[in-house]
Amino acid sequence: MTAQIIDGKESAAQLRSSVAGHVAWLKEEHGITPGLAVVLVGGDPASEVYVRNKGRQTIEAGMSSLEHKLPTETSQADLLALIEQLNSDPDIHGVLVQLPLPSHLNADLVINAIDPAKDVDGFHISNVGLLGTGQNAMVPCTPLGCLMLLRSHLGDLSGLEAVVVGRSNIVGKPMAQLLLNDSCTVTIAHSRTRDLASFCRRADILVAAVGRPEMIPGDWIKPGATVIDVSINRIARDGKQQLVGDVDFGSAAEVAGAITPVPGGVGPMTIACLLANTVTACCRAHRLSEPEGLTL
Ligand code: GUN
Repeated sequence: MTAQIIDGKESAAQLRSSVAGHVAWLKEEHGITPGLAVVLVGGDPASEVYVRNKGRQTIEAGMSSLEHKLPTETSQADLLALIEQLNSDPDIHGVLVQLPLPSHLNADLVINAIDPAKDVDGFHISNVGLLGTGQNAMVPCTPLGCLMLLRSHLGDLSGLEAVVVGRSNIVGKPMAQLLLNDSCTVTIAHSRTRDLASFCRRADILVAAVGRPEMIPGDWIKPGATVIDVSINRIARDGKQQLVGDVDFGSAAEVAGAITPVPGGVGPMTIACLLANTVTACCRAHRLSEPEGLTL
């Protein structure tokens, strides 16, 4: 069997186009421009690339983008003061603090200082609680993008066996909650799981998010399964830099029913979902009806 490729680039382009349509409507009908503020502390090169891409795509969707680049030695008090200022700015509907933060800063305190209504990452403890109890939350962007790909590929997920490999707060745990809310039978496995292969082999839906290059070979995959590979790992092969996922794509594509490639799978969905969450937050802030197709 050769797996169908799940084209995240194409799905992300459709979502961005839908976001841009809602932004145009907000501007024309209500005179509102959704605004996203992104805070970057320090000069981590990967984070700088993400933040630049977020800013560019925010503007391309017609929204306003505010970037705060702070030096590595920024104090917790100064960072909290900036968040307070963004929380009370009526032109800002989404606030995102890029992670990881330098080690002298307490990421939990910083994230929980963001107004939950503006928490477009869905990392604030009250959004985590809402998602965990099946209530209307801001949903973290990467798992939201994965769920959108799964729903559009499989339709109803009810009763399917889902295995999430990875237990991070950013991907693994919220992904498991979303799959549970869609009535899957969910297992969370991780780097310490004993006999990981046997868990993976049960999965109708396998979500890999551990950050270990090509650790899941094709013979761990149930024939016909849908495989969502979240990680983007940079490796050197044949003297060249290459991006690979947690799944060994070549052998997995021989067994799976469908699979996301790396790059071009989940990655493009993450920023598209961030834009969608910002429009959702803007509509909620102005008590306008929730836009169709941008959230769950
Ligand atoms: N760092 C890696 N992924 C993310 C994300 O989705 N949001 C934020 N804020 N930081 C990240």
